[in-house]
Amino acid sequence: MDRFKNKIALITGSSQGIGAACALRLAKEGCDIILNGHKFDERGEKLIAEIKDMGRRAAFLEADLSKADAAKKLITDAVAVFGHLDILVNNAGVEKKASFWEVTEEDYDLIMNTNLKGVFFSIQSFVNYCRKNKIAGTVINMSSVHEEIAFPNFAAYCASKGGLMMLTRNLASELAQFNIRINNVAPGAVSTPINQDLLNNKKQLEKVLQNIPLKRMGKPEDVAAVVAFLASDDAAYVTGSTYYVDGGLTYHYEEQ
Ligand code: BGC
Repeated sequence: MDRFKNKIALITGSSQGIGAACALRLAKEGCDIILNGHKFDERGEKLIAEIKDMGRRAAFLEADLSKADAAKKLITDAVAVFGHLDILVNNAGVEKKASFWEVTEEDYDLIMNTNLKGVFFSIQSFVNYCRKNKIAGTVINMSSVHEEIAFPNFAAYCASKGGLMMLTRNLASELAQFNIRINNVAPGAVSTPINQDLLNNKKQLEKVLQNIPLKRMGKPEDVAAVVAFLASDDAAYVTGSTYYVDGGLTYHYEEQ
């Protein structure tokens, strides 16, 4: 299946976890890939090698996406790499655990700036590029089940993802005139570095699994499959939506 023949995608935060899985999945389906992270290291090197082994082109761009200027520049730089850009996957994100009454301004800024502000301005830059070049671009934002459901001790994270939900809905309306589609993917509990503490804590993990009807953690590949669908023409009539990839967690309630 070559759903992404002649397509080029930029995937932010793709050194590891869900971002890396998205990169490999899109490449497998014919896409050339621009990876991104704070720092280019052996993880990026390994991914580039894997993508090239699939016969696709790959590059890595460093950027700190908590800064609007850096987020905008990343798009310009990405276009310059292979001369074109069709798909933007805003995957980079951070979370910090703290009781609401202890959240510092520094952590609040880091979370909001990375999860919302950087995304806002990378989309803006991408949209300007698409408009100028008459490209029917598509954007996928890595949101979370916490754009919808509460997560005590993660107030800033929830606020950022709730903001991302409204941003996507709003932009779907505003950008349809340019044939630009934008959607969110909302992973539940996925086995990635962001969940390392949980994965290391057997008792807590068991409690989490009780809340997941499918009774397992998600895999990055589970999320990547939905990202690939949304990025492809199979989703030509899908915009402004959030797709949950959560094993049923979001709307599950059970009295144990
Ligand atoms: C968070 C994880 C959490 C999961 C389910 C994700 O958005 O990043 O830490 O386990 O939601 O609650």
